[in-house]
This record gives sequence, C-alpha cells and structure tokens, in this order.
Amino acid sequence: MAKAAASYVCQACGAVAPKWAGKCESCLEWNTLLEGVAEARPGLVRKPRSRLALVGLDGGVEPPARLLSGIGELDRVLGGGLVASSAILVGGDPGIGKSTLMLQAAAALSTAGRRVLYISGEESIEQIRLRARRLGLERSTLELAASINVRDISGALEAERDLAMVVIDSIQTMWLDTVESAPGTVTQVRAAGFELIRLAKQRGFSLILVGHVTKEGTLAGPRVLEHMVDAVLHFEGDRGHQFRILRGVKNRFGATDEIGVFEMTDRGLAEVANPSALFLAERRGNVAGSAVFAGLEGTRPVLLEVQALLAPNAGGSPRRSVVGWDGGRLSMLLAVLETRCGMKLSGSDVFLNVAGGLRITEPAADLAVAAALASAATNAPTNATTVYFGEVGLSGEVRQVAQSDARLKEAQKLGFERAVLPKRVARGSRTAVAESLMLAEIGHLSDLVEQFTPET
Ligand code: TYD
Ligand code: MG
Repeated sequence: MAKAAASYVCQACGAVAPKWAGKCESCLEWNTLLEGVAEARPGLVRKPRSRLALVGLDGGVEPPARLLSGIGELDRVLGGGLVASSAILVGGDPGIGKSTLMLQAAAALSTAGRRVLYISGEESIEQIRLRARRLGLERSTLELAASINVRDISGALEAERDLAMVVIDSIQTMWLDTVESAPGTVTQVRAAGFELIRLAKQRGFSLILVGHVTKEGTLAGPRVLEHMVDAVLHFEGDRGHQFRILRGVKNRFGATDEIGVFEMTDRGLAEVANPSALFLAERRGNVAGSAVFAGLEGTRPVLLEVQALLAPNAGGSPRRSVVGWDGGRLSMLLAVLETRCGMKLSGSDVFLNVAGGLRITEPAADLAVAAALASAATNAPTNATTVYFGEVGLSGEVRQVAQSDARLKEAQKLGFERAVLPKRVARGSRTAVAESLMLAEIGHLSDLVEQFTPET
C-alpha cells in the first residue's frame, strides 16, 4: 500500500486536508481535524477488461428474505426483520442499553436455531457471561468472542459457515492493522466497517455494528458508516427514565419512521406492547397545565402528556424553557395565542415538558401544547378524558394532520371519551370511532381558548 505524507482527517465527515485548520472545508464542522495518515488512492492502472451489465428498470424483483430476530420491537423498526447480507448500525449514548439489546436479540435468534456470533471489543468474556446470567440467557447457544482485531475477526467470519447474524460491539473499538490510526478514528472505523460489511455481503449474514454517539448527538466516527450500511437505528432514552426508544433513521429495506419501545428492567430490556399506557402511567387528572396529545410515531399512535407551567417573570426577558419539543415552535404558538386569541403570556416565564422524556417532532402537537398553555394560564384543568391533536397556523387556524383515525382509535382504546381535533375538510366517515368518542372539531385556536374560563 502506497503511503502519502501526513495529512489531516476530519473526524466528522472523513474529508482529508493537507494542512490543519480550525474548520473542515468539506462539512464545515469546527475542531474536527486530527492528524492522520491518508492512504494514497491508486488509480486504474490498466484498462478494465470486464464490462458492466446494463439492464432496464422493468424486470423481476424479489422482496428480500427476512429473518425475525425474536424481539418484536426490533423487527418492527427494521421493517419486518433482519435482511440477509445487510449491515445495520445501532447508535446510542454509552450506557443506554445497546449491548443489552443486542445480546438479547442474539440470544433470541440463536434459541430459534440460527447461528449467531457476538463479538465484543469492549467487554471480556466473563463480563458478557455475567450479563447473560443476569438476563437469564446463560443457556443460549450463541457464540462469543472478545477481540478488537479485524484481521482475526474477518478470518473467522470467512471460515465459519451458516452464520445468520454477527454482532460487533462496538465498531469504535475495532482495529485493522493495515491502517495506521488509532481505533475509533474515522480512518479506522471506515476501514474496519468496510471490511466487515464486505464480509456480510459475501457470506450472507446480517451484520450489526454497535456505535457510540457523542454528546452532540452525532455518531462519532460511525457517521462515515451511515452511507455504507443499509440501516441506521438510534437507541435513545433518558437515563432518568426506564423506557428506551429504538428509532429507524435510515433503512434501505423499509420505512424509517418506526419506533420500538422498551423498558429497562433489572432483567434487561422488556418490550412495551402498549407505549401509551406507559407514557400516561404517572398522569394525574385534574391538574391545570396538563393535556394529552394523541401523537403518531411512525405508523404507531402514541398518547403523551404535555405539561405547561407559567410563572410570573421576575424582570428581564421572560424565559422559555422546553423539554421534548421544539423551542421555536413554542415561541410561535405563544405569539399566536397572544395576538390571535388575546391571551396575556408575554409577562410570564413559560416551561413546557413532554412527560416521560419522549421527544415530539410532529406539528400535530400544537393543539395539545396550546391546551396545556391555556389551561396553565387560566388555572382551569383540561378534561382528564380528552385528547388533543392538530396543527396550528400563524393566523390561528387549526389544520388537518395525518392519520386522525389511528389517533382516535388509540384514544378510544385507552378509555378516553372526547377528542379535540381539526375540522374535517370533507365530510368523510369516522364510523369506527364515532360511537364512543365525542369529537369536538375546531377551526380556530380561539375555539379552544374559549373552553378555558379563568378561575376567579
Ligand atoms: P449497556 O447495554 O451496557 O449499554 P451500552 O452498551 O449502550 O453502553 O447497558 C448498561 C446499562 O443498563 C447499565 O447502566 C445498567 C443497565 N442494565 C439494567 O438496568 N438491567 C439489566 O438487566 C442490564 C443488563 C443492564
Ligand atoms: Mg456496550
């Protein structure tokens, strides 16, 4: 391998610069250039002999064969199970439960009679055995190895037969001796990832690469892998809360908006079949400033509690503090409530929280947030059996959102009696839910605000 002079490699995007700079020219990130050795790229020396076979779009297609991991929530996020010869990157904060989840999935698959390898570069065999014992998996037939050496690993993967799944925990610890930089650097991660993915394609197993996320929320080093793998999953959650969300970020074989919900127990991760019940578990009825949002995570409806608190501002510019929602969206909603609905909010500090630690990204939450704010401002509690959803526009109009029926069904399933939602544009039928759920359709935010009368 020809070697070039020392150069600087961006740890965020992998671009190579000839000299050090504070900012990467390629991805514009700051302080990401580290000295490394970039390999010279050999050009094509000879004329290529073989030719590409070119085909048309109109031809036979087979859906990829799926293998169920045995963990339903993981299979759901993957779009119906693992695909053979594919590579999946599972990212998340250290300590969130990636190794636990992967050990459980590996054990479940091996119990189903498949051959599974779990290769750890972070923990010793004893540590993994201890964890397996704690999870009640010590009888599982999965095969373990502790190694960081990609040359050893790739030799083993080439020799072993009938592998269904291989877990590499984590890609940041992997080290390829042909690359000079240290494990965890972009160059190493890329080279090790490339080699392992190549083997997965060649040998036909599903490869799972575990990667740690930096504080900024990006996959350090593994970001260069995002292009190379077939699916990227994020495992997220709040260390203070017991539940964890597995979220699809990229998926070449399925939709990316699915989530899997787990609960971290003292015996590992338990699948949560009914997330709404979990998220609403600690809700107390009849408290001012709380409203239930009928949301959607992927194709799955989820009910969440939105909490708002207004406090008199002690001087200076009022505080707007948000957990689990978009701060810009809160400012917009406050402005709409103030200018279009005549509510006085600019003199108060506003705190907004999505209970349970989940993050909402849907604009459909506007109406629930507005209800929580109006309730907090008037000190009049929302009806404890009501759910809210709908997007709010700048003139205060309440707009349609996707999948109303799915949201209403979930609310009905959990015993809610009333829903405040956008006015229907076309008089479609809502037959399935209409009977037991009272629907309050509103066209403007002021219709909602009117429902709250200040306590005097
Ligand atoms: P781990 O899977 O090691 O996280 P990661 O691989 O993402 O770094 O999870 C570690 C945390 O999970 C640790 O703080 C303890 C907790 N845990 C449980 O609460 N119950 C369990 O059964 C296990 C195995 C771990
Ligand atoms: Mg781990």
